[in-house]
Amino acid sequence: MANVIDGKKLSEDILAKVKQETAILREQHNIQPGIAVIIVGEDSASKVYVASKEKRAEECGFLSNKYELDEKTSEADLLALVKELNEDKNIHGILVQLPLPAHINADHVIQTISPDKDVDGFHYINAGKIMTGAIGDAFVPCTPAGIMVMVEHGLGKDLSGLDAVVVGRSNIVGKPVAALLLAANATVTIAHSRTREIDDVCRSADILVAAVGKPEMIKGDWIKPGATVIDVGINRVPAPEKGQGKTRLVGDVDYKAAEKVAGFITPVPGGVGPMTIAMLMANTLKAACKANNLPLPKIS
Ligand SMILES: NC(=O)c1ccc[n+]([C@@H]2O[C@H](COP(=O)([O-])OP(=O)(O)OC[C@H]3O[C@@H](n4cnc5c(N)ncnc54)[C@H](OP(=O)(O)O)[C@@H]3O)[C@@H](O)[C@H]2O)c1
Repeated sequence: MANVIDGKKLSEDILAKVKQETAILREQHNIQPGIAVIIVGEDSASKVYVASKEKRAEECGFLSNKYELDEKTSEADLLALVKELNEDKNIHGILVQLPLPAHINADHVIQTISPDKDVDGFHYINAGKIMTGAIGDAFVPCTPAGIMVMVEHGLGKDLSGLDAVVVGRSNIVGKPVAALLLAANATVTIAHSRTREIDDVCRSADILVAAVGKPEMIKGDWIKPGATVIDVGINRVPAPEKGQGKTRLVGDVDYKAAEKVAGFITPVPGGVGPMTIAMLMANTLKAACKANNLPLPKIS
């Protein structure tokens, strides 16, 4: 049976470190990390995510400002708010919750955030730094950063000689995690919806990262015995066994079958999900230190 990489426990350790370093920053330098979270519209899942980011930020001792904008807010008004926050000395990180309403170009908005306050790590400058190996100087997107902490937990920092397969090529997860695995010396393959014989590709992986968004797509017999399996997917599926109309969360990996074969595995829920928020807090603390020319605390 695989060793389970407990994302809840790992994320709590990171949050405790962020909280401790924030207290030191406030005491020694009178600096309080500040995060601004902008949400446009009424998407219920986005509201839940934003509430939990706000709660974690407050627990860490951050200034946390939430901007809840009407669904009909114009792109120009949203860009004006982002520009105002770019200039705000008390705000070190700006996060615009996605998805945005269809009439707003999300890319325009993200590229308007100052790269120095881009704690989601989606700005071209930060994406470019990650692709060129200037990772220490970048804001690394939170989910890929959390995935790397989990991989390191199982395998250590140097992945020399290991084959990694990332299933999914999104800008938010697949591409940046592939770049981070490459920087850690893994030999990386990126698979996607046009990949042929994807089951065989997955079978070659010592490290398999599934970021697809298809419930339990990766089967137990796609996994190399002893592999490290990181399941990023969050999929809500019907759960009639819990009662009529009830649902449950599953990942992109058939967990029950995979845990019998893998060496390390992350559960859903309680795996990558909690790590994402913890890394957002770590990025915000880093942004506050960078803005004040202070050394970056070691968090993970
Ligand atoms: N735990 C967290 O904190 C966290 C954070 C972000 C995302 N997620 C979850 O992770 C999953 C992926 O998110 P995302 O934003 O990366 O999704 P996305 O932007 O929809 O990308 C999905 C990727 O999967 C590929 N794909 C789709 N169907 C496939 C198939 N049958 N075989 C192989 N590849 C296939 C797509 O290929 P093409 O490019 O060819 O279309 C695409 O590259 C979702 O379930 C999401 O909810 C979790």
